[in-house]
Amino acid sequence: MCGIIGFVGSGEAAPVLLDGLKRLEYRGYDSAGVAVSGADGINMVKTIGKVEELVKKVHECDRLRGSCGIGHTRWATHGIPSDINAHPHMSEDGKFAVVHNGIIENFTALRSEFEQKGVKFQSETDTEVIVCLLAYYYDGDVKKAIMKTLSRLEGSYAIGILCADEPEKIYAAKVASPLIIGVGAGENFFASDITALVSHTKNVIDLDDGEIVEMTADSLVIYNHAGKPVEKPAKFVAWDIAAAEKNGYEHFMLKEIMEQPGALKATIEPRIKDGWIVFDDIDIDMTKFNRILITACGSAYYAGCVGRNVIETLCRIPVEAEVASELRYRHPLVDEKTLVIVVSQSGETADTIASMKECKKLGATTLAIVNVVGSTIAKLADNVIYTWAGPEIAVATTKGYTTQVAVLDMFAMWAAEKLGRISEEEYKSLLVDLMRLPERAQRALDLSSRVKKLADKYYDRSSLFFIGRNIDYSVCLEGSLKLKEISYIHSEAYAAGELKHGTIALIEPGRLVVALCCLEELFEKTVSNIEQVKARGAQVLGVALENNRRIFSEADDVLLVPVTNKLLVPVIEIIPLQLFAYYVARKNKCDIDKPKNLAKSVTVE
Ligand code: AGP
Repeated sequence: MCGIIGFVGSGEAAPVLLDGLKRLEYRGYDSAGVAVSGADGINMVKTIGKVEELVKKVHECDRLRGSCGIGHTRWATHGIPSDINAHPHMSEDGKFAVVHNGIIENFTALRSEFEQKGVKFQSETDTEVIVCLLAYYYDGDVKKAIMKTLSRLEGSYAIGILCADEPEKIYAAKVASPLIIGVGAGENFFASDITALVSHTKNVIDLDDGEIVEMTADSLVIYNHAGKPVEKPAKFVAWDIAAAEKNGYEHFMLKEIMEQPGALKATIEPRIKDGWIVFDDIDIDMTKFNRILITACGSAYYAGCVGRNVIETLCRIPVEAEVASELRYRHPLVDEKTLVIVVSQSGETADTIASMKECKKLGATTLAIVNVVGSTIAKLADNVIYTWAGPEIAVATTKGYTTQVAVLDMFAMWAAEKLGRISEEEYKSLLVDLMRLPERAQRALDLSSRVKKLADKYYDRSSLFFIGRNIDYSVCLEGSLKLKEISYIHSEAYAAGELKHGTIALIEPGRLVVALCCLEELFEKTVSNIEQVKARGAQVLGVALENNRRIFSEADDVLLVPVTNKLLVPVIEIIPLQLFAYYVARKNKCDIDKPKNLAKSVTVE
């Protein structure tokens, strides 16, 4: 996810663009840039690093004169963070400059088409193909060149465009990525979200997919996909800046919980090609390995625990998940026949980096699953699969975790197919459920108001238990951590079958036990554990699949999640637990986005 902004008015564009980029920085911050149309053509300044780096560079340069410009702050998806990969991107002839938020899924084909025409690409980004297309189709009519360009693009995009032949105009267009138009007095704007505009104007227009907007300081025309002007009234937004950064949500954590369907879609869909899972950028021969070791910390480790279940089930080779801070000092039995999968949202967790280095030293092949492009772990790994979840601001991970699990699910299917351990029929059936995860995640999010009521009922309980078996137990680990880290209420995840070996002594009247029983083949076993704790006075919140009716006679409260393949259930099942933790913490007036004692990335031992 990146942030884009455009301005055209009477004053200098550069200061307005830089101020807007600062407010969009939560959307992406590994590099940034601006371009301004002036009497001498389009001038551009861009840099790796945060917007403050860009501000310094812009102040050092006096070329950026003009009242019409575009800006970008990047969250890298294709091409590591660097000056050259930063946006804007300019066509070879200097006629066009573009900023882009989204993923052009057919950029590889478009790139080779233009390389065959002799175009020399400057960057590794997917975005650069957009300026190539614009320059190629331009015959003096910018809107026509834009329409022809958009007709060649596949994927998601919100783009801002400058043309050197029209120094008083900016253009923008979108499909699937957000874009807001700001209507001012003698000035007009576009931006990825209201945050960048709300200090200038609260009169906004939502651009719809396929529409193109053409702006000058005093005019604004929106064209539909057929190039016909359309009337779209502006609406007044009564948000302040803080609310706008969270897109109207009270906390980043809730915003990121709600972003999960989009994050899952962005992570899964670009890897499905002609009915098969394709990882463009890994070079792994699965037949080389006799075991897989997954290592990570915190929620990433709990995602790894889910991955262990799924990979072992599908690939039928031994898979172990080990906490990185333990693995690094265990003198691990790792060699060149071991594939080590390293999971990390930030890509900067010290214990995870150290355990990865230890495994590499011992000859293991490493595969990193990370969310931050170009992070330390991404650079150190032999192979990388990115979770395209976009920046995660809240300390407690949510979309980071579910996209990690989704990538582990895809890897398990991919590896099982390479090893010949899965039938085509089973693979295809799993793929259907994999592709429906975003939609089912949305349906799980629709439980939000019901979960809030349960949080209001149970917010003052202490020492909760989360119990489950097999893959449900792996999800209990993450559900318990979510509650602990944002509501400061002690809880414990426990293998349901293990309770009777001592810990059940802690169950007493009023103890809340959250029982995860989505794994149907072990449902009866978990029910017997529910009966054991209820016999000792516990209250039980049961989480089961939508087709389950028996749970209503066993649990005091029930949450039903959409049915999906048993191996993919964790991605859906965790969502009500994220919401439960959020609403309990909110009821207890906790500092949800910045819980005490915690950091978003633990870069120390
Ligand atoms: C999860 O909500 C926590 N923020 C924490 O456990 C986190 O998952 C852990 O520190 C690992 O971070 P990483 O994924 O960036 O490596």
